[in-house]
Amino acid sequence: MRSLRLIRAALRLAVVAAALLSAASFPTPTSAETGAEAWLRYSALGPQDAKTHQRLPDEIVLLGDSAVLNTAQREFISGVAQMLGTTLHVRAGSPSHNAIILGTLAQLRALDPALHPPQELQPDGYWLKAAKIHGSECLVITASTDRGVLYGVFALLSKIARTESLAAIDEVQQPYAPIRWVNQWDNLDGRIERGYGGPSIFFADGNVRSDLTRAGQYARLLASVGINGCTINNVNAAPGILEDSFIAQVSRIADVFRPWGVQLSLSVDLSSPKVIGGLDTFDPLDPRVAEWWRKKVDEIYRHIPDFGGFVVKADSEGRLGPSTYGRTPADAANVIARALKPHGGVVFYRAFVYNHHLDWHDVKNDRAKAAYDNFHPLDGAFDDNVIIQIKNGPIDFQVREPASPLFAGLRRTNEAIELQITQEYTGQQRHLCFLVPMWKEVLDFDMRVDSKASPVKDLVAGRTFHRPVGGFVGVANVGMDANWLGSPLAMANLYGFGRLAWDPNLSAEKIIDEWTRLTFGSDPLVVKTVTAMQLNSWHVYESYTGPLGAGTLTNILGNHYDPRPESSEENGWGQWHRADHQGIGMDRTIATGTGYIGQYPSEVQKLYESLANCPDNLLLFFHHVPYTYVLHSGKTVIQHVYDSHYDGADQARDFIAQWQSLEGHVDQDRYRDILQRLQYQATQAIVWRDVICNWIYRLSGIPDKEERVGSEPRR
Ligand code: GCU
Repeated sequence: MRSLRLIRAALRLAVVAAALLSAASFPTPTSAETGAEAWLRYSALGPQDAKTHQRLPDEIVLLGDSAVLNTAQREFISGVAQMLGTTLHVRAGSPSHNAIILGTLAQLRALDPALHPPQELQPDGYWLKAAKIHGSECLVITASTDRGVLYGVFALLSKIARTESLAAIDEVQQPYAPIRWVNQWDNLDGRIERGYGGPSIFFADGNVRSDLTRAGQYARLLASVGINGCTINNVNAAPGILEDSFIAQVSRIADVFRPWGVQLSLSVDLSSPKVIGGLDTFDPLDPRVAEWWRKKVDEIYRHIPDFGGFVVKADSEGRLGPSTYGRTPADAANVIARALKPHGGVVFYRAFVYNHHLDWHDVKNDRAKAAYDNFHPLDGAFDDNVIIQIKNGPIDFQVREPASPLFAGLRRTNEAIELQITQEYTGQQRHLCFLVPMWKEVLDFDMRVDSKASPVKDLVAGRTFHRPVGGFVGVANVGMDANWLGSPLAMANLYGFGRLAWDPNLSAEKIIDEWTRLTFGSDPLVVKTVTAMQLNSWHVYESYTGPLGAGTLTNILGNHYDPRPESSEENGWGQWHRADHQGIGMDRTIATGTGYIGQYPSEVQKLYESLANCPDNLLLFFHHVPYTYVLHSGKTVIQHVYDSHYDGADQARDFIAQWQSLEGHVDQDRYRDILQRLQYQATQAIVWRDVICNWIYRLSGIPDKEERVGSEPRR
């Protein structure tokens, strides 16, 4: 028995050593099949699939003439040529026979006044309709805006690629909210904060890149899923971005975005009027400061007439802000908003404002409370072109967090949810972690404001409180790597963000099914295997990194990647889990804890305040419990931690076999690249498992019932 244990312990050590070694040599992609086309591959359809579309007209009529409409026509022609091998004949005015018709509703009316969509089209919404026009069978793609026509084209191409029949199509699609933006955290020197897909596609060595081909291709990817805005630089903004000479450079990026209907916006540093403007202050209530912003904004619009607006990170993580002058976030946001207002621009003011020097000795302190404490009292004080940009959870993109209570705390203020596509705390694109199921949980979470249905998706879209503007922001951080995010499978997160921003009621299953077919084709084995792996992956990652809502137990002082649970404690950053020899978890109750739960509407308070109601998967976020506390599942906390880590590592290993079942069904380049990544992930999951299990065993002194942890032979 004793020697068996010794052998087991030695084996475990060997596995960890092997894992650490392989961690040091993470494979770089070697493939020729780079994944650059992402979900826009337009692969040639096989003869059977092509049959579905054999009646597609071979003529295309563009009713209008604009940069976006021309893009739409070109995209359709090249997509059809690639997928079906058909050359569409271009015609202006009216169809000579069966045709594809592209144009806005106003243009369509001139062609056929009798044709009306079944419902009013919102800006960017589109209508796909098989219709008889002047005796010809036509396929109409129409919208109230040019951009809507482009979105309709992408939707139709996606249907062709997925071999959906278009024969009797009559489909209206409307965006859920006007704001569907991505943020890029690119620095002007070309590095990207929390970017894992190579250097910036916009900047290099302090300037805008001379070759912006990739930036244009990125805009095409964004447009294909309905994203209509992109903030191109880090929220930790370099003031230099607003220098006049730089604005001229930035306008070149706006030029390559424009044909795809993507508006450019900038992150700005609030101290800019002082740092680059030569004023002795950046006090938002000083008239000279207001004047400086006004002139600066006018200058920007001279170069970029369709400029979107600004993102502001202030009084956060060392950034200067209005608190320097005893002013509020509303004072700061409004002075900029007023400069943008005449041009139609907006300000995204980030709610990620917190003190990172909190006294960790004080058990009543709680970083999770900061956003609500700072912004709820200002509800109604923001101008109507200010949008409060709120991270999905109250801490910082952890593997699991509850929805931020601030979503329910602003009735007279616009808001947008900020989701993180780049996998900062969720495996940095080296671990498979499809985030759509996580985002759906937050978006569907019902805040029960005034005891009425009020899911987060409706609050942020401005539907609950009838706000003029609101929506969805995703931190994307694509880079120069051919496959954009550094991993082909991670691109499902960018696709999924766009699809959810367009329609948060889509299911995760539907989204990943679409993405898989577009990315790998419709081979049933591939679709079944890839969708199952993706749908399971967040759960797997969570189970070996941060179970029960304790947060991602990572190195929060360093790379946010390796396991290092001790780093969360005994510092002012407030990502505490309060693990000690007796128990683990943050007591955030109203009765005995930090009172954070009191920020939610009363029905949600009831859900989280009592141990009896609190869901297991958020238990340690809300409560401090002994390791022997018994979960709803019937397991103790400590046994759950052991079991979930072993189970998670096993499942990560099983991904390898699942993927291997696709050999010969996926091109060799992507097959090998993804296989290497999954093998690497499996070793990393073992590292995580052993670090966390040994850490919690050392703290609790309670061994694993299954004798995997803490059962080393006594000397
Ligand atoms: C996280 C991230 C930072 C980023 C910050 C933010 O803390 O680690 O790099 O600047 O979020 O969202 O502002």
